[in-house]
Amino acid sequence: MTIPTHRIAVIPGDGIGTEVMPPAQRLLELAGHRFGFAFEWQNFDWSCEYYARTGAMMPADGIEQLAECDQILLGAVGFPGVPDHVSLWGLLIPIRRAFQQYINLRPIKLLPGIESPLRKVPAGGIDFQVVRENNEGEYSESGGRLYRGLPQEVAIQESIFTRFGVTRAMNYAINLAEQREGRLASATKSNGIIHTMPFWDEILRELGQEHPLLEISEYHIDALAALFVLDPGRFDVIVASNLFGDILTDLGAAIIGSIGIAPSANLNPEGEFPSMFEPVHGSAPDIAGRGKANPLGQVWAASMMLDHLGHSEAGAALVDTMGHVLLETDVRTPDLGGRATTEEVSDALAAAFATVTAEAVLR
Ligand SMILES: NC(=O)c1ccc[n+]([C@@H]2O[C@H](COP(=O)([O-])OP(=O)(O)OC[C@H]3O[C@@H](n4cnc5c(N)ncnc54)[C@H](O)[C@@H]3O)[C@@H](O)[C@H]2O)c1
Repeated sequence: MTIPTHRIAVIPGDGIGTEVMPPAQRLLELAGHRFGFAFEWQNFDWSCEYYARTGAMMPADGIEQLAECDQILLGAVGFPGVPDHVSLWGLLIPIRRAFQQYINLRPIKLLPGIESPLRKVPAGGIDFQVVRENNEGEYSESGGRLYRGLPQEVAIQESIFTRFGVTRAMNYAINLAEQREGRLASATKSNGIIHTMPFWDEILRELGQEHPLLEISEYHIDALAALFVLDPGRFDVIVASNLFGDILTDLGAAIIGSIGIAPSANLNPEGEFPSMFEPVHGSAPDIAGRGKANPLGQVWAASMMLDHLGHSEAGAALVDTMGHVLLETDVRTPDLGGRATTEEVSDALAAAFATVTAEAVLR
């Protein structure tokens, strides 16, 4: 009998991206053995090092090469010496746009065994999803610089919000909220940003009329950030523009214990193109090469890839495995207050995977 085989593009990238990828692939292989599917790995060394050698973050036909794969697993890109806008605009943003990965889904969930840095949050007291619009908004190429180096120098950066782009992101968030607890919070700033944000709010209200059972709230982004700290338990699903979602989810990662845990999925929900799964964190040059990187964000991103591939039982088993290690052992990397290396966490995860049953630790 042949089993389904998924062709996965693997882009470890830079710094700790190369360290957290092997544990994730190891867990994916184990999941495949247990749940009856396989992977064909297609490795790409596209990174800042590749840029230093070739002058580009990926080859001219990079998108065509990735299009041959079913999904993409990414570590992190960016390294001192290469400006961050070069690494971001040379690799991640072209992939997100070419493949219409217009949703960036980021679960913010306090795993068992992890204490939030927030004093009043009980175990399991944070569990929400941020839906970030991922193709337009504030991250746009529209604008320019004039009079470079002169006293009258000017920089103009324009945001692009389209009815099409905002509507599809909001519809995704509405659908997700309807499958969860039916509460949707929108991040806005329509008091200060007087064109795009009232437009954002109007579209939400129009769509909201079609979903009367949904509880929809609008928050100014500054107040919303404060509530992440003061009352994170109130949220179910949050929908945000590209920039707001980006900033909020780093804060979200911090309140669930470490940016090293948080995962992210760049989704093409229709499955017309590959989606891309990556941890929220960057290449962490301050700890790279020292065995200190927490692999949990990458493993959680791998579990989101399994969900997207239709292997939700296997995806749940990976998250349960993480919860098991955190709850039952003290094997954790320094960002979580432990002393274990990346490899020791990887070994603990592999051992725990064998014991975790379909009975959810978490769900
Ligand atoms: N998607 C991406 O590839 C991505 C995302 C963010 C930043 N970056 C790039 O990464 C580089 C570094 O950026 P930064 O320092 O602002 O953010 P970062 O996420 O790399 O690091 C921020 C802090 O968190 C720690 N940290 C991050 N991930 C960790 C992990 N898995 N385990 C333990 N500690 C971890 C780091 O040591 C550092 O102190 C920059 O070049 C930036 O552009 C890339």
